[in-house]
Amino acid sequence: MILEKIQPSIFLLTLFTFSLSTQFWVSYSQTSPTIYEILKLNGLPMGLFPKGVTNFSVDDSGRFQVYLDEACNAKFEDELHYDQNVSGNMTFGRINELTGISAKDLFLWFLVKEIWVDIPSSGLIYFDVGVVSKQFSLSSFETPRNCSVSYASKILSRKLGRDEPNHQELSRAIL
Ligand SMILES: *[C@@H]1O[C@H](CO)[C@@H](O)[C@H](O)[C@H]1NC(C)=O
Ligand SMILES: *[C@@H]1O[C@H](CO)[C@@H](O)[C@H](O)[C@H]1NC(C)=O
Ligand SMILES: *[C@@H]1O[C@H](CO)[C@@H](O)[C@H](O)[C@H]1NC(C)=O
Ligand SMILES: *[C@@H]1O[C@H](CO)[C@@H](O)[C@H](O)[C@H]1NC(C)=O
Repeated sequence: MILEKIQPSIFLLTLFTFSLSTQFWVSYSQTSPTIYEILKLNGLPMGLFPKGVTNFSVDDSGRFQVYLDEACNAKFEDELHYDQNVSGNMTFGRINELTGISAKDLFLWFLVKEIWVDIPSSGLIYFDVGVVSKQFSLSSFETPRNCSVSYASKILSRKLGRDEPNHQELSRAIL
């Protein structure tokens, strides 16, 4: 008796779930997702990339390249510097093999190698800058920031770009 009552509802639920996922698929394929939506689908905050993304590519394995209008700096709790070309490997809740983002700490700029969040979320986001990992509140990365192009940010890109892999931990720039 009980089974008879349950079965139709399971059927309806399945149907409902199916129609939801179909709808999701349709809306997903109609307009190709932005890089911000891709971050969100990977459990990462949309503000990790600033405004001014011109194009990007992501492959099935999560390897991505993001191109900005120009190298620029964005203000968070700390300042972040973005090269014109940012690349890495995105998996759920994590970006590794990152190139093209640096974080300012006092007077030093550190290349960010890896970014991750806790699952389930602790409200924090972590940046591995080689020597240490820094933590920030996730909420400050909720929305894409303005990224300002300055003479300094261009110089910084060149300085950071010249650093050889062996010395990537610490990139000094006086700004
Ligand atoms: C994005 O734009 C840059 C610079 O205009 C170009 O070199 C690159 O090939 C483009 N990448 C993709 C994935 O379209
Ligand atoms: C962007 O950076 C990636 C990784 O360093 C590199 O493979 C790619 O060629 C770069 N693209 C451009 C247009 O510089
Ligand atoms: C990306 O990172 C994941 C998890 O760390 C790893 O399993 C995968 O092989 C990486 N992919 C590439 C293309 O490096
Ligand atoms: C971001 O830039 C836009 C357009 O340049 C400007 O209208 C807006 O006030 C800026 N927002 C912040 C928070 O600086």
